[in-house]
Amino acid sequence: MTLEAAEMKRIVAETAVDAYVKDGMNVGLGTGSTAYYAIKRIGQLVNENGYDLTCVATSVQSEDLARECGITVVDIDDVKQLDVTIDGADEVDPKLNLIKGLGGALLREKIVAAATVQEIIVADESKLVEKLGTKAPLPVEVLQFGNGHTSVGLRRQRCEPVMRMKDGRPFVTDGGNYIYDCRFPDGIDNPFFIESRIDVIPGVIENGLFLNTAFEVLICDSDGNVRRMSEEKADE
Ligand code: 5RP
Repeated sequence: MTLEAAEMKRIVAETAVDAYVKDGMNVGLGTGSTAYYAIKRIGQLVNENGYDLTCVATSVQSEDLARECGITVVDIDDVKQLDVTIDGADEVDPKLNLIKGLGGALLREKIVAAATVQEIIVADESKLVEKLGTKAPLPVEVLQFGNGHTSVGLRRQRCEPVMRMKDGRPFVTDGGNYIYDCRFPDGIDNPFFIESRIDVIPGVIENGLFLNTAFEVLICDSDGNVRRMSEEKADE
């Protein structure tokens, strides 16, 4: 059996929700085509199982979907912390470090992840890489003002920054900013070092490296099997 990507996303998202989301929790809602299925499942828990959840969304898109699903969504500052967040990723390395942000929500996703006790990442097997930056570019969210100068600073990190476009115009994030997708020709050898270099460039608001963030990563293969990769296992 070889499943379509959408089916793998559905299976892994539902597995994560069923394993981690409990009645009464504060729950972070991720963004993207995998998080979509998690939000749908959380909606079922609320509507069919009577779960009383307080949810925070990582994007306007996810907030709209959650409300359509009958989920109560609050502002992140209305909760002290989130028990669990279920979100997707663009790349996952063997140490469970991630690239996120191809869906454009990296800034809110990082703020929500930082407020979360258990950040659960759900993905199909195509997202596994040996080294970050080998398949996906690294998205970097920058202020509109002076973004050309900011991109010069990004280029000095030996990457090729390309402004993300949508419908012929610069893509604008929920925070009103631009994104440069930075392609590293040989991947990212030391993500902690690159993150520290990128973060000090004037105009950079957030980068898509999520390092030491995932509590557990669930990966679905094309046979529909879900593998759970946790921090401890990654350290072995
Ligand atoms: C959005 C993200 C997404 O989680 C990431 O792009 C994965 O998306 P998908 O599940 O659609 O592959 O980081 O900013």
